[in-house]
Amino acid sequence: MTDNSSNTMWGGRFAAGPDAIMEAINASIGFDQRMAAQDIAGSRAHAAMLGATDILTDTDVAAIREGLLTVLSEIEGGTFQFSTALEDIHMNVESRLKEIIGEPAGRLHTGRSRNDQVATDFKLWVRDQFDAAEAGLLALINALLGQAEAGADWVMPGFTHLQVAQPVTWGHHMLAYVEMFGRDLSRVRDARKRMNESPLGAAALAGTSFPIDRHMTAEALGFDRPSANSLDAVSDRDFALDFLSVASISAMHLSRFAEELVIWSSAQFRFVTLSDRFSTGSSIMPQKKNPDAAELIRAKVGRIYGANTGLMMVMKGLPLTYSKDMQEDKEQVFDAADSWMLAMAAMEGMVKDMTANRDELAVAAASGFSTATDLADWLVRVLGMPFRDAHHITGTLVAIAESKNCDLPDLTLADMQSVHAQITVEVFDVLGVQNSVNSRMSYGGTAPAQVRAQVQRWKDKLA
Ligand code: ARG
Repeated sequence: MTDNSSNTMWGGRFAAGPDAIMEAINASIGFDQRMAAQDIAGSRAHAAMLGATDILTDTDVAAIREGLLTVLSEIEGGTFQFSTALEDIHMNVESRLKEIIGEPAGRLHTGRSRNDQVATDFKLWVRDQFDAAEAGLLALINALLGQAEAGADWVMPGFTHLQVAQPVTWGHHMLAYVEMFGRDLSRVRDARKRMNESPLGAAALAGTSFPIDRHMTAEALGFDRPSANSLDAVSDRDFALDFLSVASISAMHLSRFAEELVIWSSAQFRFVTLSDRFSTGSSIMPQKKNPDAAELIRAKVGRIYGANTGLMMVMKGLPLTYSKDMQEDKEQVFDAADSWMLAMAAMEGMVKDMTANRDELAVAAASGFSTATDLADWLVRVLGMPFRDAHHITGTLVAIAESKNCDLPDLTLADMQSVHAQITVEVFDVLGVQNSVNSRMSYGGTAPAQVRAQVQRWKDKLA
C-alpha cells in the first residue's frame, strides 16, 4: 500500500489515504497486538460457525481456519510484520490471511463487525486475567496461611492509630490479610461469572440478517451464553471496569500490607527480616537493606486506580453504541493487569521468604501497657466492678507505672492496692502477654486456638 492509497479494508468510498497524524491517532496495533491469540480464536470460532450454518462452504472455512493458524504461528514466532496503516489487530490478521489463502479470507467478516470482534477479543483477554488473578490470589493466600500456621501463638503488638493497643498473635495478623485477599478472590469469581457472555454476532450493533448461530460461537469460546442485546454487546465495557475495580480494591490491600512490611522491617521495629531475594542494597550506604519490593507494591496501586478512573472517564457520557473512544480501553487495562499480577507475585514471594523476629515481637507485645484492658476486665470479672470504674482505676495504675518508668506487670501489689484495696495477687496472672492472647477465645479472636481453627477453615474452603 502506497502512502496515498485508501485503506483496503474500508476505503471503498475514500479517494485518498489518511494523513500521517490521522493514522497515528487512529491506530491501535501498537498495543492491541497483545490480543492476537484471542482475535484468532474468535475468528476461528466464527468461521466454523459460518460453515456449520452453510453461510460459507466447508472448503472456504477449512482454508480460513488453517490460514489463521499460520498467522498465529507467525505472530508467536515474531516474524509477523505489523502495519500501522492496517490500524488494529483485526485488520492486520485479516490482511495477512488474504496474502496466505487469497479470496476466501474476504468471506471471514460475513455476519460480524470489528465492533463485536473487538468486544469479544477484549473479553477473552480480560477473562484470562481474571483467571490469572484467581491463581495469584490463591498462591498469596496459601503463603499467608503458611505464616499463620507457623506463628499461631507468636505474640506481637496489635495496633490502633499505630499505637500499641492489645497483644495479638502473628497468625491472627496474617489471617486478617487472608480475609482481605479472600474477599478479592470472591470478587474475581463473581465478576468473571457475570462477564462470561459472548458479544460475537452482535455485528456492528443491530445483529445480522445472516442465519448465524451465536450459541455455537459462544460455546466454542467458553462463554456461558451469547449476550442478549446486540446494542449492549458492542458498547459494554463493564467487564473491564469490573476487572479494574476488583484490581483497585485488591491493590489497596496489597498496599496496606506492603506499608506494614516497610514499617516492620525498619531498624526501629525489627518485627520482620525480609529475605535477601526480596530486598536491595544502597549504592552509597553499605549497611542498607531496603524493602524495595514492598515499596513498589505500595506504589503500583496508583497506576491501577489511575486506570480505573481513566476508563470510567472514557465510558461516561458515551452514547450507544460503539464509539472510537472505546479503543482507549485497552492500554489502561493491560497496564493495570500487569501491575496487579506482578504485585501479587512479589507479595507472595516476600511473605514466603520473610522471617518474623519472635523475640522482638514478644518484647514489643509487652510494651505500651498493652495488657491494660486485661487488667480492667479482671476488675470487672473478679471484683464485679462496672467497666467504666475499672477503666478509670486501670488508667490510674498506668499513670503510676509511667511515673515509675515500668510496665504494668512490674508494679507491686502495694502499688495496686494503693489504688484499690481489694486487688489481689491473682491480678498478675492476666498481665502476661501470653495469657492475654490465650484468653481472647471469642469467635474470630486472637487466641492461638481460634487462629488454628481459622487456618483450618480456610484450608477446607480452598481444598
Ligand atoms: N481498534 C478498534 C478498537 O479497539 C476496533 C474496533 C473498530 N471499530 C470501528 N467501527 N472503527 O476499538
